[in-house]
Amino acid sequence: MARGRCNGFIRCSPCANGVNLDQWTKRLKCRIGKVPAKKSVFSNFRDLTAPEMTLPEGMAYNTRMKMDGLDFLSRLEADSVPVAFLDPQYRGILEKMRYGNEGVGRSRARCDLRQMPEDEIQRFILRISKCLIPNGHLFLWVDKFHLCNGCSVWWKETDLDAVDMLTWDKKRMGMGYRTRRSSEHLMVLQKQPRRAKGVWQIHDILDVFTQKAERGGGHPHRKPVRLQAKLIRAVSNPGDVVIDPAAGSFSVLDACVMARRKFLGCDLI
Ligand SMILES: C[S@@+](CC[C@H](N)C(=O)[O-])C[C@H]1O[C@@H](n2cnc3c(N)ncnc32)[C@H](O)[C@@H]1O
Repeated sequence: MARGRCNGFIRCSPCANGVNLDQWTKRLKCRIGKVPAKKSVFSNFRDLTAPEMTLPEGMAYNTRMKMDGLDFLSRLEADSVPVAFLDPQYRGILEKMRYGNEGVGRSRARCDLRQMPEDEIQRFILRISKCLIPNGHLFLWVDKFHLCNGCSVWWKETDLDAVDMLTWDKKRMGMGYRTRRSSEHLMVLQKQPRRAKGVWQIHDILDVFTQKAERGGGHPHRKPVRLQAKLIRAVSNPGDVVIDPAAGSFSVLDACVMARRKFLGCDLI
């Protein structure tokens, strides 16, 4: 291919906006001539393409696998998935705040779930960062306690950078000594090289998302499917694989069905 015809797509490094992407060029496809040479950062075209993933033995797409999340992640190939979600079972809220009603009534289901120690969350994030393709995204649900006290130590040893954050307005009143919680927070982390142009393709996602939390039936920490589906569409292509190693009610699986992506994930329960 003549370099002069590359149209700014990732194929030959001189065209890739000054970023040296030589090492990734084998994995990325060039879609020559489909869009104008000069794209804005708000372009709706995604030129990043994930490689075909080899499914580990015994795993299946779009199923609710029951296994340990760290074991699951250790069996995935490096640099193979464009999107991951992680919603750790935080100890913070139950240990740092004593309301006196832990384990009774509606909080029973939450108390019964296995909590993740900090070093385990860090190991989850480290393994996810290995599985992500360059420019790939991790959407990390963070509780208010960790958000206030800082949690960047979790990805300090990885190739991930925090690039954005969203707030989910749950339209329900939760716990709190002072203010009562009605929201949850989602950090957006990106594997290096950090880049939005040609990678993030939906530009009308607001950083506050309102959707009434579902109550009863499922899981006490179920996350909004529509929001997760929109984020998945923003950073992946149809048919791409999305992982969630601590999937709870498998809301990310539902989001993948909505967004027409392949889901691969598990939970202990
Ligand atoms: C906050 S919930 C996830 C909720 C989920 N995002 C949803 O929308 O339903 C965290 C989950 O992590 C699971 N978990 C805890 N330790 C785990 C481990 N080592 N491997 C896999 N899952 C684990 C718990 O069973 C719990 O269901």
